[in-house]
Amino acid sequence: MRKSNELKTLYSQIYGSSQQAQSDYSDLLALMAQAKALRKPELSQMDKHQVNWVFSQDMVGMTLYIDLFSGDLKHLIDKVEYFKDLGITYIHLMPLLKPRDGENDGGYAVEDYRQIDPRLGTLDDFVEVLDTYRHHGIKICIDYVVNHVAKEHEWAKAALNHDTQKQDYFIMYDTDEIPNLYNRSVPEVLPDKCPGNFTYYPEIKKYVFTSFSDFQWDLNFKNPKVFNGMVDNLLYLANLGVNMIRLDAIPFMWKELHTSCRNLEPIHDLLRMFNLIKEEVCPSLAILGEAIVQPEEIIKYFGSEEKTECEVMYNANLMVDIYHAFASRDVRLLTIDTNRFRIPSKGTWMNYVRCHDDIGWGFNEDAIRSFGMDPYAHKQFLIRFYDNEFEGSFSRGEPYQYNPVNHDARTNGTLASLLGLQQATETKESYKRLEALRRINLAHALILSYRGMPLIYSGDEIATINDQSYLNDPAKKAEGRWVHRPIFDWKRAERSKQAGTSEYEVYQSLKQMISIRKSLPLLDGQANQKALDMNSHQVYCLIRSHENESFFALYNFSEFNQKINVEELRRWVRGTHYTDLIQGRQFNLEHKILELSPYEVVWCKKD
Ligand code: GLC
Repeated sequence: MRKSNELKTLYSQIYGSSQQAQSDYSDLLALMAQAKALRKPELSQMDKHQVNWVFSQDMVGMTLYIDLFSGDLKHLIDKVEYFKDLGITYIHLMPLLKPRDGENDGGYAVEDYRQIDPRLGTLDDFVEVLDTYRHHGIKICIDYVVNHVAKEHEWAKAALNHDTQKQDYFIMYDTDEIPNLYNRSVPEVLPDKCPGNFTYYPEIKKYVFTSFSDFQWDLNFKNPKVFNGMVDNLLYLANLGVNMIRLDAIPFMWKELHTSCRNLEPIHDLLRMFNLIKEEVCPSLAILGEAIVQPEEIIKYFGSEEKTECEVMYNANLMVDIYHAFASRDVRLLTIDTNRFRIPSKGTWMNYVRCHDDIGWGFNEDAIRSFGMDPYAHKQFLIRFYDNEFEGSFSRGEPYQYNPVNHDARTNGTLASLLGLQQATETKESYKRLEALRRINLAHALILSYRGMPLIYSGDEIATINDQSYLNDPAKKAEGRWVHRPIFDWKRAERSKQAGTSEYEVYQSLKQMISIRKSLPLLDGQANQKALDMNSHQVYCLIRSHENESFFALYNFSEFNQKINVEELRRWVRGTHYTDLIQGRQFNLEHKILELSPYEVVWCKKD
């Protein structure tokens, strides 16, 4: 089907074919044409030549809060060299559009999609950032909070002002009858912050659907005007020169009574339409989807081979599996999950080990059962291990959203605190410090070699540990996630140049691996990958292949030396003589046994 026909068909499938719907569709086409006409020449050039950039092995990302990192947008311009030194080629700038005043969920409660948070600068500053970074070959990704707006957004304000048309942009009811029905089947996202899924607004005598908090109003995508309005905003941001849009919280975008209101089918049509629209107007723009849900649902947001939805999806599962492997010294879950799903060739993962959010301990329960373990007990083990309540734990994480009834919880903390560096520093045990540094290195190596785009969480490159100072800030103290969102410590960054410091060890190893990654076309985001069962529960083996080349990586997830039998590996890779690109070790796969030191990483390329 031609793409324009596909768009029209999907639109009428969702919004019907009444005269009103047809006129809304014409409005959509008009705003698309207008956005296309306004595209700057340098962006049109990128649309011609840079449509597949997300797959390149050159892509290495970092995610950061502007205020915490550089203070504001103007000062971000001075930081280009910091990123270039490490080898960063794309940056996810955390929410920077104008949020509501006061509590705003770290900027995820947007008041105006066309203005910049005045604390960070102006629209001109932002365009200058985009132009500067583009000039240096660094791509910029920003958040597009698509599921909800702040209650101070003009649509919500009008709705609060009794504008009935605008009230239809949201999901609201006169009585609690329907909200109560919803509440029977819809789980709570943040039970502490927003118990139930609705907030009552006495000024309009209505119950409003608010999944995340009382000040974040869910949009009603059953209304074509909402869809058109959100497309219009998205194209506006793309035309400023943004390279990637992170669609926030997509599983929540459609609501139906008697369902969980998560991952419902029409969301895929909405996302497919977003994709068709951006392909027509600004094809070099990439869409990153954020859906922290079960992997079988995440995978669907890539769309199919012919019908792409999001080109890139966060690989939330990989993050959990990595922490699982460290805690249990068992890589079987990671191996199974690596091979579990086939993603379409036009999709790739965003791989990360930490981000601004907490870690939710969702994992492949069938796999855990197949190892003879009980998923509930295992989850409790992970929660307690990372909260440092478990004998022998190296972690200094903190519980988040603890549920006293079933003891469920998520975990907060920085990479270095979760993987042992904080504890080793406190106890001054130098062998523990070495182990922690090796764990951090392993975690980074894994995301750099796994199919997709690696994303470093700002501060992790210099081994930042948990910061409790948020507890002194009334606007932050109720939100535990701030423990891993500290102000960037530039003194610590200085130490990344001083041999012998932890900052140096973490930073320099990461820098070396980034540069190796970029030299390996077979780490491209579309190249195949397979994890091999090495007859060892401790060693994870990842093979990447591309035409005639092969690459394998080995990761020892334990603090002990491991001997592995390489017969299986020999069956899957070409040739027998390999060199480890990180340490220069030579491997001859004709020798059956290979030995790895504690937490060792090898990245092997055929000689
Ligand atoms: C995403 C963000 C999270 C935010 C939520 C609501 O999950 O990562 O920080 O609270 O969306 O916008």
